[in-house]
Amino acid sequence: MTLDFLGGLERTHTCGVLRVDNAGQDVVLMGWVNRRRDHGNLIFLDVRDRTGITQVVLDKEVSNAAHEKAEAARSEYVVAVKGRVRRRGTGLENPNMATGAIEVVAREMLLLNEAKTPPFSPAEDAIANEEVRLKYRYLDLRRSEMQDNFALRHRVAQAIRGYLSDNGFLEIETPFMTRSTPEGARDYLVPSRVHPGHFYALPQSPQIFKQILMISGFDRYFQVARCFRDEDLRADRQPEFTQIDLEMTFPTQDAVFRVVEGFLTAAFRTAGIELTAPFVQMTYDEAIHRYGIDKPDMRLPALTELTDELTPELREQLKIEQKLPVLGFVIPKAGGLSGTQRRALVDDIRKEFGDCGLDSLDVARLKTNPAFAPLADVIESRLAAEPTLENGVADDDLIIVITPKLGTPEKWNYDPQWIYKRVGALRLTLAQKFADQHGRFTKTGTEADYRFLWVTDFPMYEWDEETRTWVAAHHPFTSPHEDDIKSGKLTNDKGAVRALAYDIVLNGTELGSGSIRIHRQDVQAEIFRSLGMSDAEAKERFGFFLDALEYGTPPHGGIALGLDRIVMILAGAQSLREVIAFPKTAKAIDLMVDAPTPVSEQQMKELHLKIVSRS
Ligand code: AMO
Repeated sequence: MTLDFLGGLERTHTCGVLRVDNAGQDVVLMGWVNRRRDHGNLIFLDVRDRTGITQVVLDKEVSNAAHEKAEAARSEYVVAVKGRVRRRGTGLENPNMATGAIEVVAREMLLLNEAKTPPFSPAEDAIANEEVRLKYRYLDLRRSEMQDNFALRHRVAQAIRGYLSDNGFLEIETPFMTRSTPEGARDYLVPSRVHPGHFYALPQSPQIFKQILMISGFDRYFQVARCFRDEDLRADRQPEFTQIDLEMTFPTQDAVFRVVEGFLTAAFRTAGIELTAPFVQMTYDEAIHRYGIDKPDMRLPALTELTDELTPELREQLKIEQKLPVLGFVIPKAGGLSGTQRRALVDDIRKEFGDCGLDSLDVARLKTNPAFAPLADVIESRLAAEPTLENGVADDDLIIVITPKLGTPEKWNYDPQWIYKRVGALRLTLAQKFADQHGRFTKTGTEADYRFLWVTDFPMYEWDEETRTWVAAHHPFTSPHEDDIKSGKLTNDKGAVRALAYDIVLNGTELGSGSIRIHRQDVQAEIFRSLGMSDAEAKERFGFFLDALEYGTPPHGGIALGLDRIVMILAGAQSLREVIAFPKTAKAIDLMVDAPTPVSEQQMKELHLKIVSRS
């Protein structure tokens, strides 16, 4: 087939814009053949570009030459058509298409490029297997759903940039080739050719640089920053991802919150969602006690503490450990299971929890035992009163009560919150499992779908069972509460030290994390020490930063939000791969370019590297 040259032809319109008002106009459209229907003397081509699809009619009577070209065209060929816009005949309109009231009658057609038969059609809604999509990402990205996701991503990023810029934040870039930043993942390293045996680390975040920018007097900084982390990947984790990263001088925690609420409101508006600020706030302790997790999904009812209802006598009878918490929760509409399904579900929970000293009670079954029926009624009415359960408890809801068995395990000694966390995790698993039935995750397209929450007062330290040491729960630049420094808890009672650290949570996903930072060198040095870092090690890793802190560092604080996660939730997608143009697989592979790859001997030599073992 001979392909045509463009010959200076200029496109007059894109494929999504023509309407009835344009009828009678001469236009030039260019795009991809989305579909082709051949009715002999009449061929219909749906021509597609980013903005939409226009139906083009090639009538042999109008132009034999153009009709011949259309006969040769196939899906995904690139074409140009010149013709006149015409209103479609009555009954022939397509109300599902923005351009569905018109069509273009072509007088000329150019075949600009051909296409091999694609492994899947970008025109189809049915989605090919993900590996194929990622390998042929250019075709996958042609799909309208993906085009919409990236248009949304663009609008969200622009709205955030605009808001921050209007509010005095300067966008400043920080280096990719730097040294290790402590965000808790492994670093991606870049070997230096010039300095044998030396490596740059790609930044896990711009954390230290943004703090230095505050020391430098920039007052308010932001960056749409690429970060790199070598960690186990999940649907909401990619090895490289983008943060909306910001830092402010002299901020209160609330000042940071107002900025984030401001830019999220602007971002959500671009998706047609009006948010109401300020967002709800909850301390970490409250989140754990009420939801069993530090990122509660506020669309679901909280856990109900039934500790008082289970009197010492009842505990004896039911073989429940005294004094430890008993927690109940409702899974709306899950109670409609058959008796067998229900028993199987409760048995599964019992099996899973049995090993860790927990037991479960199904309140409906408790009711059938006359000795415990009154208790079941009390539990039911307590749960029905849970304020987040808008409509109380219905007959087909499943009420589960988790009780600690007599002689619960050692774990309790160092983590009294453990039962809350276990029960919180179970509540989430069951909520997901029955999501379709209870409709709580069903989108309404309004603000109610997006339940934001600030979680505050995180603990400063976390106990790491593996290394049996205290580690920084956020990062080591986070300031402890002033009271907890003054009272000496940093040395005497690390587990009780609260940090001025906060998370922004949306529907159970952590969107962002931040903190008020340490601005005094003596406090920073003490925190490093309290994390088991010797002064020499602290100097080796962060000496430049400790030095900088000594030159008039103002109080400062900030936050970083995952842009990919914001867009993923707004797009209603289940994975970050739907909103990152060229993402990696769960094994950190780019299937399209096929990376990572081995490199040549020559490159290895230049970098002074040798592979000793590839195991
Ligand atoms: P943190 O490590 O909590 O904080 O990261 C902030 C936000 O970045 C997003 N995020 C990720 N998104 C996709 N893939 C990943 N692998 C990934 N890791 C993190 C999340 C997360 O909430 N420097 C601090 C911020 C600060 O203190 O200002 C930091 O990076 O949405």
